[in-house]
Amino acid sequence: YANGTAAAAAVELASPTAARQPFVIGVSGGTASGKTTVCDMIIQQLHDHRVVLVNQDSFYRGLTAEESARAQDYNFDHPDAFDTEQLLECMGQLKRAQPVNVPIYDFKKHRRCSESFRKVNASDVIILEGILVFHDQRVRNLMDMKIFVDTDADIRLARRIRRDTVERGRDISSVLDQYGRFVKPAFDDFVLPSKKYADVIIPRGGDNHVAVDLIVEHIRTKLGQHDLCKIYPNVHVVQSTFQV
Ligand code: CTP
Repeated sequence: YANGTAAAAAVELASPTAARQPFVIGVSGGTASGKTTVCDMIIQQLHDHRVVLVNQDSFYRGLTAEESARAQDYNFDHPDAFDTEQLLECMGQLKRAQPVNVPIYDFKKHRRCSESFRKVNASDVIILEGILVFHDQRVRNLMDMKIFVDTDADIRLARRIRRDTVERGRDISSVLDQYGRFVKPAFDDFVLPSKKYADVIIPRGGDNHVAVDLIVEHIRTKLGQHDLCKIYPNVHVVQSTFQV
């Protein structure tokens, strides 16, 4: 297996609990880069496995009434805008194969729905998606695979204008103002520097079917190893190679 034959594996004795851990994929990239589309394509192709999507957006801190009144001055693109401790707690539970209640975030009101949650069940694959999921080392450490969706800034801005005016109740002027004051500077300061942590960089986002096919192939190889671990619980796959 050392010289590159596809999907070859070596096995060794290991703890049976290692076998039950889900495979965690992080998907990052700038605003409106097509992260959700890439995740949906992966989920669709892995229809024969249990896959769940967790959005970093769900962990936005709710604004106080005072902050909400001046929402145009709030930086939603700074790492502090998220409750990362709660995200870590939820991801930790999912990694331990326990179900969790994920908050539901309202982009129009800038706060969480206080009554309802989305129940996420234990799964084979967990995809964590968001602009800053590679920023915190503790979050990165949860991931078995990191994907960065790389889409031109002008295409992202055009998509963002369309989405925010149609789906998030904004007007064009406020979208452009927010983009110049907060979104672009935070992309340069936090999102782009976190690209170096990616294992795979997908140019053109959801338009890149070849990249998504290759990624899914790799995930299947890894899940095959997991399945092997389930059949032989004290067998742990230690090395594999995947070659195109
Ligand atoms: N945001 C906002 N108002 C809020 C909370 C967040 O405008 N109350 C914006 C932030 O400015 C941030 C963006 O939401 O830039 C994060 O969402 P984004 O990554 O654009 O959404 P996705 O649908 O995940 O993106 P993609 O198109 O890549 O799937």
